[in-house]
Amino acid sequence: MGFLEDRVAAEMAQWSGFAAGGIDAKKISENFSRPPKPELGDLAFATFKFAKDAGLKPNELAAKLIEGAKPEGLVVQANAAGPYVNVRLNRTLAAKAVLEEVEMRSAGAEPQDWRFGDSEAGRGKTLVIDLSSPNIAKPLAVHHLRSTMIGYSIKKLRESQGWRVVGINHLGDWGTGFGKLIAGIKKYFPQLAEAAKTSDRPLGAMTVQELNETYARFNKESKDDDGLAEAGRDEFAVLERYIEALLTKPAEGEGNRLDDQARESGIVNFRIWEHAREISLTEFERMYTHLGLSFRMWPVVDEVHAKVLTEEPESFYREHCIYVGESYYVTAEDLCRRLIADAVANKVAEESEGALVIFTHGAKKPPLMLVKNDGATSYHARDMAAALYRKRHWGLDEMTYVVGGEQKLHFEQLFKALELLGHDFAKRCSHTDFGLLLFQQSDGKWAKTSTRKGTAIMLEDLLDEAVQAVRDIIAEKNPELAQDASLREHIAHAVGVGAVVFNDLKNGRRNNIKFDWDAVLDFQGESGPYMQMQYVRMGSVTEKFRAVYGEPVFEDGNAGRLNLDEEWRIVQQLAGFPDAVAKASSEFEPSIVARHLVELASLTSSWWTATKDTRIVGDDRELSLARLRLVNAIRKVLGRGLQLLGMELVERM
Ligand code: ARG
Repeated sequence: MGFLEDRVAAEMAQWSGFAAGGIDAKKISENFSRPPKPELGDLAFATFKFAKDAGLKPNELAAKLIEGAKPEGLVVQANAAGPYVNVRLNRTLAAKAVLEEVEMRSAGAEPQDWRFGDSEAGRGKTLVIDLSSPNIAKPLAVHHLRSTMIGYSIKKLRESQGWRVVGINHLGDWGTGFGKLIAGIKKYFPQLAEAAKTSDRPLGAMTVQELNETYARFNKESKDDDGLAEAGRDEFAVLERYIEALLTKPAEGEGNRLDDQARESGIVNFRIWEHAREISLTEFERMYTHLGLSFRMWPVVDEVHAKVLTEEPESFYREHCIYVGESYYVTAEDLCRRLIADAVANKVAEESEGALVIFTHGAKKPPLMLVKNDGATSYHARDMAAALYRKRHWGLDEMTYVVGGEQKLHFEQLFKALELLGHDFAKRCSHTDFGLLLFQQSDGKWAKTSTRKGTAIMLEDLLDEAVQAVRDIIAEKNPELAQDASLREHIAHAVGVGAVVFNDLKNGRRNNIKFDWDAVLDFQGESGPYMQMQYVRMGSVTEKFRAVYGEPVFEDGNAGRLNLDEEWRIVQQLAGFPDAVAKASSEFEPSIVARHLVELASLTSSWWTATKDTRIVGDDRELSLARLRLVNAIRKVLGRGLQLLGMELVERM
């Protein structure tokens, strides 16, 4: 369990019963649990795993283990209860140990210096995480929020455990869809296509929304028109061939790969594609800034960042994620073609109906498509090339893809295909899948949004709405604060965005989430605003103490005065935080931290109620300081936890 349990275990390992049985501190700690009722004790050691070796029944072993028990120090009492050894702790000593630990590890004034819960377990290891990864020329929709925020939180969690984490945005910026987009531009906006002959930014003021509409319109019309469908495929082939000719040097004596005509149309298509990507990225950037993420284009060429990357790679990867779009493996390096050639040479890939496929699961599942029957590279081919590139470049220990559950088969096939090609690291790759974000429809039913049905909800609209709602609440509840425009905006932004983020992370990631505005913004419920309000409250109590008694020295707080059951439960919850973080990190499950914080907030609120009469800051200075010491620890753990979820803290609201 946590570090408090480790200390208790260290004491118990000295008892003759445990020492004689060879049950060391680690084993004790691993077999601790909380007794079902607090009256039974504070911790219960389960004997099941050790009974056989001892040649005893579990309850006999439990009785034997406490024969040599010398409760002193943290443990004040031990007794056998069936197959368990229940122990009661010296609450004063335990509280003191927990508070000291939190204080020592969160000494700085700034939240980013709070390190209770961090560990060095991953020092020297690298995790590559594929996150967000939207398709370009389409607006960011709400489901991208999930990949972005789950991924971002996992990145922070792993970093807190000492890992180097490389966050990669595998932008969907290549594929046959872009052939349709280009064909659509040529059909509906011929003047823009004409401009591409001379300008490298031919699309003028087109927005992502308009690009998407152009694609959708063309896609729809091409469904009943074979000519159009073919035109779309051709435009992509022109683009891909043009890139490949640029990459492959002509052999001795061979002329240029492309004739003038092919080169000219290649350039036109390339420029349209490149500008569409630039337009998309500009828009995506707005959203990422909102959410607190920074992405740099790979390879990093701008001087400032390139310098940081070479001189302080750790800090580069902590501050930034990188864009390495699908096109990278086709346009910047010919990894894709080399991979395909390799799969053919190894006889892993085979021809099927004009396409090149890999039967990853025999006849049990459909084959993985490597090259389409029109010669174009596939989504899978680019993912395989990307995996090899990442392995080669970052020497990864683990890699995970934060992508919705709909792509389960895609990743099963991907990992299997890599294995078939002899790449062992595929075993260290995983798919961090997640459920859908559901919205209530006009008929009352909950459904996922769909661009096709016109029910898509744009991420930007959603966040704007959340921020506006918080702004309104501030205006109503705290008119004084509302006067200070810049502070108000800062708070509305942090709390509004945080509300959406917390809602996304508070339940196990595989669950579908019903997006219900009332719950998201509920200042009383299990919501982001509630968590942030609790954090702010801890700060106000400290202010109050300061006003009455002057600057507090938390370390002087007398843990012996924390006698309430509510206080003891909070101490235990604080002690369990490092474990929750470690578990969330290893399981790629931010909700474990979120749930831990929800519980901490709820215990705190019960404490609030229990101390209504005596108050946290009351007439008794010693008692007030003891309680304030606990308040300070709650504030730091809550603050650190919210940060690990990717939320921004506010000091007032
Ligand atoms: N662009 C894809 C989509 O929006 C997600 C890509 C996920 N990452 C990957 N390496 N395949 O559905």
